[in-house]
Amino acid sequence: ALLDWFYKNHRILPFRTDPSPYHVWLSEIMLQQTRVSAALPYYERFLAALPDIPALAACEEEKLHKLWEGLGYYSRVRNLQKAARIVCEQYGGQLPADYDALRALPGIGDYTAGAILPGSGDYTAGAVASISFGIPVPAVDGNVLRVFSRLYNDPAAVTEPAVKKAFTARVMEHQPPDAPGDYNQALMELGALVCVPNGAPLCEKCPLAHLCAARAAGTALELPRKAAPKPRRLQPVTLALLESPAGFLLQQRPQKGLLAGLWQPVLWEGEALAAGEVLARLQAMGGPCPPAGHGAGYRHRRAGSAARCKAHLQPHRVAYERHPAACARPRCSGRLRLGQPGSFAGGVYPARCV
Ligand code: ADE
Repeated sequence: ALLDWFYKNHRILPFRTDPSPYHVWLSEIMLQQTRVSAALPYYERFLAALPDIPALAACEEEKLHKLWEGLGYYSRVRNLQKAARIVCEQYGGQLPADYDALRALPGIGDYTAGAILPGSGDYTAGAVASISFGIPVPAVDGNVLRVFSRLYNDPAAVTEPAVKKAFTARVMEHQPPDAPGDYNQALMELGALVCVPNGAPLCEKCPLAHLCAARAAGTALELPRKAAPKPRRLQPVTLALLESPAGFLLQQRPQKGLLAGLWQPVLWEGEALAAGEVLARLQAMGGPCPPAGHGAGYRHRRAGSAARCKAHLQPHRVAYERHPAACARPRCSGRLRLGQPGSFAGGVYPARCV
C-alpha cells in the first residue's frame, strides 16, 4: 500500500528523475537542514556549476562557498568536497556501490556526520546506497522517525540514539528487498506530505491509516517525543566594525571549528573588551591604523538583540569607527582584508563569504 501510494503521489524532483549517486548524495546533503522547495534552486545551480564529482573535487574554495551561501552549515559543503577528492583518488571519480565504503566518506556516514549533525548517523550513506544502488539498507531521517513513532504509538524519545536504532530495526522489518530505495523514499515522502510535523497529520490521505496505532489512540499530535534540548550557551564577543571608502575590514575565521573559514568583522570571542584594548589589539594585528587621536572616536554601543545572532554568540559590545582614513591603507595580511559593505549589510553576523 505504501509503495503504491508513493508511485502515485510522489513529488517529481530532479534527483528522482535522474537518481545518479552524485545527484542523490548532493540532494540529501542539501536537504538535511533545508526544505525541498528552498533547496531546489541551490541544487540546480550547484549542478550547473559542478556537474560531476571531479568538478566538485577541483572547485576553488570561495566558489564552493558562494554556491552554498544561504544554505548554511558550511561544514557540509566542505565535507562534500573532501569526500569528492577521496572518491577521485580512490574510486576513479564514481561513488562506490558499497554501503560501508560510503559510510567511511566524510560527511556521509556516522564517523563525521554524527559530529556535525548529531543523530544524522548513517542517513546519507543509506540514502545513496538504497536509492542509487538498490542496496537494502535503511535511510532513517526525521520524517521516518515521526511516521514510525506514530505507527507504533511509541512515546520513546526519537532523539536518543538507542531509540533511533530500535526504530531503524522496525523500518527494516518492512523493507521490500527489491525496492529499498523506493521504500525509504516513500516513508520520507509520507512524512513530508501526509504525516506532517507541524499541525494535524492528513490521516484521511494516509495509506497506512488503518495500521496506525497513534491514529487509533488519538495521540498523533503528541508524537514523536523528543528529549528537551540543551540550553544554549551564550558567550560575549567584542566586535570591531571598521569602515573605509575601500570597504569594511574583514577577518577570516580559523579553518577549523565554528563557521570555519568564513569572513566576519574583526572580533574576539568570549571577551568583553574596552575601547582602548580594542584599539591596542587592532594595532598589534597590523591591520587598520586609526590615525592618532582617533582612538577616542571609537563609540561603543550595544549590538542588536541576541536573537539575531546565530551560532550561540552574543555580541556584547561593538567598537565602531567611521573615520574615512581609519583603514584606507590597512596593512592587511593573511586573514584580514577589506570587503564590500553589502556583504554583511544589516548587521548580519558573521559576514557571509565575500
Ligand atoms: N527529504 C530528504 N531526502 C528526501 C527524499 N529523498 N525524498 C523525500 N524527502 C526527502
